[in-house]
Amino acid sequence: MSSVLDSLKVKGVFFKNRFVMPPMQGDHATVEGGVTEKLIKFYEQRAEALGLIIVEHSYVSLNGQRAKRQLGIYDDHLVPGLKELVKRIQPFNTRIILQITHAGAKADEKLGIERVAPSAKEGARELMVEEIEALRYAFSRAADRAVSAGFDGVEVHGAHGFLLNQFSSPLTNHRTDMYGGSFENRIRFPLEIVRQVRKQIGTRFLSYRLGSVDLQMMGTQIEDSQQFAKQLAAAGVDIINVSGGLCGSAPSSLAAEEGFFVPQAHAIKQSVDIPVIGVGGVKTPQFVDQVIREGKVDFIAIGRALKNDPDWAIKAVKFLKTK
Ligand SMILES: Cc1cc2nc3c(=O)[nH]c(=O)nc-3n(C[C@H](O)[C@H](O)[C@H](O)COP(=O)(O)O)c2cc1C
Repeated sequence: MSSVLDSLKVKGVFFKNRFVMPPMQGDHATVEGGVTEKLIKFYEQRAEALGLIIVEHSYVSLNGQRAKRQLGIYDDHLVPGLKELVKRIQPFNTRIILQITHAGAKADEKLGIERVAPSAKEGARELMVEEIEALRYAFSRAADRAVSAGFDGVEVHGAHGFLLNQFSSPLTNHRTDMYGGSFENRIRFPLEIVRQVRKQIGTRFLSYRLGSVDLQMMGTQIEDSQQFAKQLAAAGVDIINVSGGLCGSAPSSLAAEEGFFVPQAHAIKQSVDIPVIGVGGVKTPQFVDQVIREGKVDFIAIGRALKNDPDWAIKAVKFLKTK
């Protein structure tokens, strides 16, 4: 039986405990997507008691930007700032990876972006195959930059209705070519990206944020995601970070429950042999301790509670050590 305070060795590297900070866009970057002191402090103030920090979603190309002050990784000039962020977290012996993303149809129109998506929808234009190839390259270049900045790995964002999730969900992908239609075709682009990124980052960690359920009748169901997860693992993913799909990260129908996406994470864990992260409305150290003891998930992520209280994890560790 494992405790949340126990270390976990993944691919020969120790994570000092099972507490994870999930990616949370803080709008603290410059308008070019660059790292600021405020952004660094946000992570620095929370790092001490965490096993893993997943830095907020960073756009891999300019037409994938979701918000004005979102972090970016679309160009080499952004690397020195990211390097500084990594350097400031290293003394805590906390692993740190960067989430890379493209917002697709959910890019911010107000920024003058011509929005693209797997299928034309609400003003977003359907991507041509050559553009899909270019985007795959953009993800791989972004992964390269994350390595140059010194991150322990990257997380590919495949949840919350953003581009890769728009490809995998039957509700947003109506293509009739090799990238749409059947389940195998819909997961083709995310898997291509995963394989490309895997090559690019060598032995560093590769996590995939999985939009496990859309919570709609004709949308992605957990059984689809269990199949997808197996293929992600076979393609070289080391960790699966389970969240919601088109329903978003905190759907109102579930959000009252502590650990609202943990059942989905547990279902994914049962279909793969790699570590899985659970998340959703975690508020108490008792809950975190219980889900790890029961073996529901390998890591547990605490988002808003940690955002609102930088010392949440420090207090949780203290509490659990004296229990
Ligand atoms: C302000 C905010 C920003 C977020 N940004 C991201 C993000 O960049 N990438 C991502 O995958 N999830 C993002 N999420 C979702 C969180 O990672 C997490 O899954 C969600 O908040 C549920 O966990 P919690 O109830 O512990 O906060 C964000 C959530 C919040 C509240």
